[in-house]
Amino acid sequence: MTSTAEDLLQSLRQQSRENKNSDIEQGAGAHITESLSHYYQRVRQQSLKLCSDLEIEDFQLQADAFVSPTKWHLAHTSWFFETFILKTTPDYQAFHPQFEYLFNSYYNAVGKQYPRDKRGLMSRPTVQEVKAYRQYVDQKLMALLETEKDLTPEQTDLIVLGLNHEQQHQELMLTDLKYNLSFNPLYPIYAKAKFPKGQAPDSKQNDSIEPLEFIEFGGGIYNFGRKGTGFRFDNETPRHQSLVNDFRLANRLTTNKEFCQFIDAGGYQDPQYWLADGWSWVQKNNVTAPLYWQLESEDQQQPQRYEFRLTGYGQLHPQQPVTHVSFYEADAYARWAGKRLPSEYEWEVASKKREIKGLLLSLKVFIR
Ligand SMILES: [Fe+2]
Repeated sequence: MTSTAEDLLQSLRQQSRENKNSDIEQGAGAHITESLSHYYQRVRQQSLKLCSDLEIEDFQLQADAFVSPTKWHLAHTSWFFETFILKTTPDYQAFHPQFEYLFNSYYNAVGKQYPRDKRGLMSRPTVQEVKAYRQYVDQKLMALLETEKDLTPEQTDLIVLGLNHEQQHQELMLTDLKYNLSFNPLYPIYAKAKFPKGQAPDSKQNDSIEPLEFIEFGGGIYNFGRKGTGFRFDNETPRHQSLVNDFRLANRLTTNKEFCQFIDAGGYQDPQYWLADGWSWVQKNNVTAPLYWQLESEDQQQPQRYEFRLTGYGQLHPQQPVTHVSFYEADAYARWAGKRLPSEYEWEVASKKREIKGLLLSLKVFIR
């Protein structure tokens, strides 16, 4: 076993010790209510479903070093299961001797890594070969899962970790793909817009935005960090207490329309709203609006704001929450509005009892 896998196990064992006497939290993880093999198949199939409508050329795009090609994500998530689980089982034959090098990332202890900024140059293995790699890993993993009772607790924990890792990459696949596609003047559409009934953005709905109000929260010593026995990443623990003062938090997110007011008031040109590092970033990169926004005008008199979404290029939806802003932009907007951003502690207090809702993957809306 590699030292990296040992580190992961160490962290999981530590969590298990810490939670021995903790309460079991409701909804700690969907996999608790389903078998591990079903959970495994559901997550692995989801990755393929996310790229089922892509053209073969789309899988290869890498517009910058900080994004990865879709094909690489599909291979890397399989590499995780192969490296940390399958290679520790007797007689396992690696699918390809060089895949460990090609699809490793940031796990220095595993070995050398192919340069991150050159992932888009790997035209081979092909998409079909990567899909075959996934299939191979799935067959071997499913064979292990058939004898689930023979799995060691460490193997089970690593499989669950691998599935959570893959779900993180599913989110990355979409954010990376959006960035990659945005460089194409044809603005390819990843998915057609679908909205729950009555929720389609429409400029006529501007007045239907919930009025901005501030909800009061009482201060005190609160518990923070994950409790319960379900899966958690190591940065969600240890559970601890911290003092939070009285605070007020907005009852909804800032809309595109409100952010436009900040832009129109010269927010991107006024250093008083920006942290020093943020102001350097604005200057160096000539930032004038959130990523993916463009100002277009047919007659130069009435410029309109447009944005690129996974559903294509179109007019900005004024009533939708502003997205793709950096911490610096969010912070500058809050200062301009005479407020501040909430701390992580305040947000945790405020969100603890709120229902999880939003434009989540299951809705397939993809307007972000
Ligand atoms: Fe990863």
